[in-house]
Amino acid sequence: MSATLIDGKAFAAGVREKVANATAALKASHDITPGLAVVLVGDDPASEIYVRNKKKMTEEVGMQSFDYHLPASTTREELLAKVDELNSNPEVNGILVQLPLPNKDDENIVINAIDPEKDVDGFHVINSGKLATGQDGLVPCTPLGCLMLLKDTLGDLSGKHAVVIGRSNIVGKPMSQLLLNESCTVTTVHSRTRHIKEETKRADILVAAAGKPEMVEADWIKPGVVIIDVGINRIALPEGKSKLVGDVNMEEVAETAAAITPVPGGVGPMTIACLLHNTLKATCIQHQIPFPLGA
Ligand code: GUN
Repeated sequence: MSATLIDGKAFAAGVREKVANATAALKASHDITPGLAVVLVGDDPASEIYVRNKKKMTEEVGMQSFDYHLPASTTREELLAKVDELNSNPEVNGILVQLPLPNKDDENIVINAIDPEKDVDGFHVINSGKLATGQDGLVPCTPLGCLMLLKDTLGDLSGKHAVVIGRSNIVGKPMSQLLLNESCTVTTVHSRTRHIKEETKRADILVAAAGKPEMVEADWIKPGVVIIDVGINRIALPEGKSKLVGDVNMEEVAETAAAITPVPGGVGPMTIACLLHNTLKATCIQHQIPFPLGA
């Protein structure tokens, strides 16, 4: 194998350490402890594990964690009342409503009810509008983590051809906009794209966020590409076993790519690290204190 493995686990630990140091400094200078509220509706087992991890890491960096587990039967009005309560609580600086919600129609309404300055997911139209127009705001955690890994691997991204596979509001769209803001030439491809391999083969940077196990194969890439694999797919193995794989077939691309994030241990740990980064940033915005960790 010739591709370098991009160690997201180690990089994320470094981000969390910087957040922890800045959190301690904020406490010492202003007597402020950032607080992150997470709202989980219903009982999706994968979301429950994710929320448990978030709580542990929030406390590890010295922030306050507020957790609300509401039943799947929670009405839109009840959920909006919870968001209102958190918007008015000065101890809560960041609000995350875990998606998907049991009722898909509630998602945009609930997200847009969050105070944009507390929107640590960066999903509110105010924050997505800021990202689209190149203004400073809160940026979605997974694409922010991908960008940090890309800059650490490649330095300046200006002029590079980036191809993003996927157009979700959580990853694909904000990722394309972040790369455009870095002066990349950006192509977004998705399930309806014709001749998808012709597009991905032109990429200097390939971000795979399609949610399709091992979709990217050897003939999808050009030599020297840097690949960020956002996919986390559990696939069945014989004898009732299973394993996690990304959207990229690692064995196939290993000889040709210059660098790639592994699954697990690549992008996954960066998401929570960036959530903590965003919670610190949100706290600084609300108290009009300069953010010590840059954009
Ligand atoms: N579900 C999957 N990823 C995310 C995320 O980054 N934020 C929220 N709120 N829900 C998610």
